[in-house]
Formats: sequence, structure tokens, C-alpha cells
Amino acid sequence: MSVVILISGHGSNMQALLEAGLPVAAVISNRSDAGGLGVAAARGVPTAVVEHRAFASREAFEAALSREIDRHAPKLVALAGFMRVLTPAFVARYEGRMLNIHPSLLPAFPGLDTHERALAAGARQHGCTVHFVSAEVDAGPIVIQAAVPVRAGDTAATLAARVLEQEHVIYPRAVRWFLEGKLVIRDGAVRVEGRNAPLVTSSR
Ligand code: GRF
Repeated sequence: MSVVILISGHGSNMQALLEAGLPVAAVISNRSDAGGLGVAAARGVPTAVVEHRAFASREAFEAALSREIDRHAPKLVALAGFMRVLTPAFVARYEGRMLNIHPSLLPAFPGLDTHERALAAGARQHGCTVHFVSAEVDAGPIVIQAAVPVRAGDTAATLAARVLEQEHVIYPRAVRWFLEGKLVIRDGAVRVEGRNAPLVTSSR
């Protein structure tokens, strides 16, 4: 009934999951300098580093990563600011039990630099998405989304901060739903106890 969280950096989403009291078995990072490792350790959560740079291939890295994950036999793998693209074979191993948080209202703005791109596109609304991880990057079945307004004078930094605040709302909610067995994927769409999760909105 536990969660293993994968991080690459700051780990604010990991922190939100910990603060929500979710059963986190371990935090694993592909970078030894990930700030989130210290946050997790300070809370007594087991941590591990599997440096992708230490492996000759993506497959070798992922084999080591899987070994570290599977030690905990988690019910769920939560990618939280994890910045490695995963191979279809790795994704298939955790099919239906791996979530990711992405800082845009998917399917808009998959990939990187989402806030800059939303501003450049003149978007009036932006946000974040929790989705099941599929072989296609940032394109798996959507669990929940939060929307925030784009305000005049916004920079990528101010918009990112507004989105991040909502990430910390929807990720714990999605993980709790998953652990409570409330999520069902049917025809590529996710239902929460038979209904679509309502859009979370913030007027901040
Ligand atoms: C967040 O915007 C998240 O959506 C993206 O990476 C950023 C940093 O996340 N995946 P965190 O603070 O490391 O959780």
C-alpha cells in the first residue's frame, strides 16, 4: 500500500505528498544533488540515488532503477519533478501504477518550458495535470487538472509559482484516490468512482 517517489531536483511535489501523510516507502533520485533527497531524509524517509550518468545505456540505468523501486514493492510509482524520459519497456513494467505531474493543462504544452510557451502563446489560462504515465511522453490518461489564470505582467517565474501551488493540491489528491482504489481507466479516460474528476480552479 505504499508509494515510491522519483525526483530529480527540488522535490516540492514530493514534499507535498509527504505532508499529506501518504505512505511513502522511499524517494529515489537520478541525481545525487537533488535537493529533495535532504528533505526526505530529514523526515526519516529512505532515499536512494541511481545516477543515470553512471550507466552506459538507458536500459542499464532503468534496470538499476527498477531494482531499487521493486525492493519496496510499491503499489504506486509517483514521478515528481523526475526529468528522465523513460523507455516504453520501463513504462510497461509499471503500467497503470505510475503517475506523473506535468506543469500544463495537457494536452496543451507537453514537454519542457511550459510556462514560457503558454505566455508566448497568449494563453489566458494555464495549469497542471496529473496523468498516468504512458509510452508517449506527457500523454497518458488524465486523472485531475487544476487551472490558474494568466495575469497581465506575468513572467514564466510568476506563472510557474502559481501553477506549482496547484500542483501541490492535485497531486496528493490523485495519489490518495489511486491508493484508495478509486481510479478506473476505461478507453483511455480515468474515472474517479465512476465520474470525471472535477477541474480544480484557482483565481489567485
Ligand atoms: C514542477 O513544475 C513539476 O511540475 C515538474 O518539475 C517542476 C519541479 O517539481 N515536473 P518539484 O518541485 O521538483 O516537485
